[in-house]
Amino acid sequence: MVPTPPPAPSIPSAMRTPYVGGNWKMNTDRAAAVALAAAVARSAADPATASTCHVAIFPPFPYLIPCADALRAANASVVLGAQDVYHAEKGAFTGEVSPLMLRDCGVSAVLCGHSERRHVLHEGDDMVSAKVRASLAAGLAVVLCVGEKLEQRLTGQTDTVNERQVRLGLREVAPDLLARIVIAYEPVWAIGTGKVASPDDAQDAHAKIRAVIADMFGQPHADALRIIYGGSVTGHNAAGLFSMPDIDGGLIGGASLKPDEFAAIIHAAARRAHRS
Ligand code: PGA
Repeated sequence: MVPTPPPAPSIPSAMRTPYVGGNWKMNTDRAAAVALAAAVARSAADPATASTCHVAIFPPFPYLIPCADALRAANASVVLGAQDVYHAEKGAFTGEVSPLMLRDCGVSAVLCGHSERRHVLHEGDDMVSAKVRASLAAGLAVVLCVGEKLEQRLTGQTDTVNERQVRLGLREVAPDLLARIVIAYEPVWAIGTGKVASPDDAQDAHAKIRAVIADMFGQPHADALRIIYGGSVTGHNAAGLFSMPDIDGGLIGGASLKPDEFAAIIHAAARRAHRS
């Protein structure tokens, strides 16, 4: 457990390149997915954002290959990610998709432990942790999602829940693999509800998560790790959130389906990089 509030980051947040991911969830059809991937490729190539912000998209499984083709055709630096993965390499796991299958389809990142998987599909911390380790072993980057439910926030359990999900999610992960990890703090009550966390509340949770990482892996690793916020981020509230010292970008659901709004969020993250 983390007894005291964490110190301010000891290195400038400029060391951390902002990261913006678009989690499309179970949305789009094939044509819309390809059009959206092409639009994100154009936004990410904008000279105002290129090279100052890492941009990722997480389309539904069936559209990963057409989206990979669209990104390749646009010569885009956008990372292609999957919304989930199974931890076994292959075998009798009907309906599941392995890390190597994802790699084979041009995927280089994966979400693990998204709240909809934890709370709708009842994935526990053990499964999330197995998925993280299997994905890292296969060479994928991982966005580990953590966050408290409303009743947990109301009963003062926010930091305990985040700490447990981070510690178990990163259990047995070697420190040198942390460079391939991003943590997404996504309070469940803020996801898809329009109720965004205030920048101060989000900053507080991020700083405490960074303190947990420092305790697990050492301060230099904690300073280098991107911790992004998710939950009702829009083109309007992104800049306020991204102005906080420990908020290194966002994982975006609804707004990632609207190309102009997602572009505005990417720009807000890039401005953070220029300002730092
Ligand atoms: P939202 O979703 O932006 O629609 O709230 C965020 C997420 O679930 O990653």
